[in-house]
Amino acid sequence: MLSRPIGSGVAVAATAIAGLVLAALWTPAQSADTDELLRPKRHFSLDRPGDLTKADAITVYDEIADDMARGYAIAEDPTARGYRRWRRYNDASYRSQTHGNRYVNNYANAVAGKAGYGNLKEGVEMAPGAILAKDSFTYTKDRDLFAGALFIMEKLPKGANPAMADWRYAMIMPDGSVFGDTDADTADRMEFCHDCHKQKAEFDHLFFVPKEYRRRFLND
Ligand code: HEC
Repeated sequence: MLSRPIGSGVAVAATAIAGLVLAALWTPAQSADTDELLRPKRHFSLDRPGDLTKADAITVYDEIADDMARGYAIAEDPTARGYRRWRRYNDASYRSQTHGNRYVNNYANAVAGKAGYGNLKEGVEMAPGAILAKDSFTYTKDRDLFAGALFIMEKLPKGANPAMADWRYAMIMPDGSVFGDTDADTADRMEFCHDCHKQKAEFDHLFFVPKEYRRRFLND
């Protein structure tokens, strides 16, 4: 088996990462079925189970990001197919307690960038067509690596969904199935997204990236 160093002397079997299991993982209610959905197929070893240093998180994500994107792309959703070509506003995957404690990344399309996503100010209003995409993965204490869901926020035309400030929320599973979408018959599964994001109404319901992981772009 191939193995090579990442981070500070941490050995990872490259085959394990390349063969990332696209397991469905996350449900908002943390149902009892979650464990059954975990189907680790391969193992790799890190010295610090369940915890990745920033350097390790970067290396791991570089290895798995394309595989994960291929899984989401099975969905008939333009964001799931295109988000990897957008700007990523975090410099390393970070753990998001509000998104199932997964390691996540934040991407924004050009419309969102132009509307000020990279430099959020109070009173900001995203233009229709602005899209944010957040992919995710999990690294467990048993040293298994799983793709997580892709979280999407898309600003719809004015008046399209006033109850959610015209945001569409969607969650796509690693195998390309759509877990929920406020624009589809699974809308009720996504209500909790806006319930939390509305805390940031003055920033058009956006939280942005935690300070220590922010990446700035010159023309934002
Ligand atoms: C309990 C609060 C909470 C819930 C529930 C929640 N989010 Fe978030 N969301 C956040 C926070 C905090 C951030 C920014 C920090 C981070 O990544 O953890 C964020 C960031 C995002 C972003 C990047 C845009 C931004 O705000 O900067 C997207 C896209 C997103 N969430 C989608 C979703 C979707 C889709 C759901 C529902 C399936 C959801 N969120 C549920 C709190 C929440």
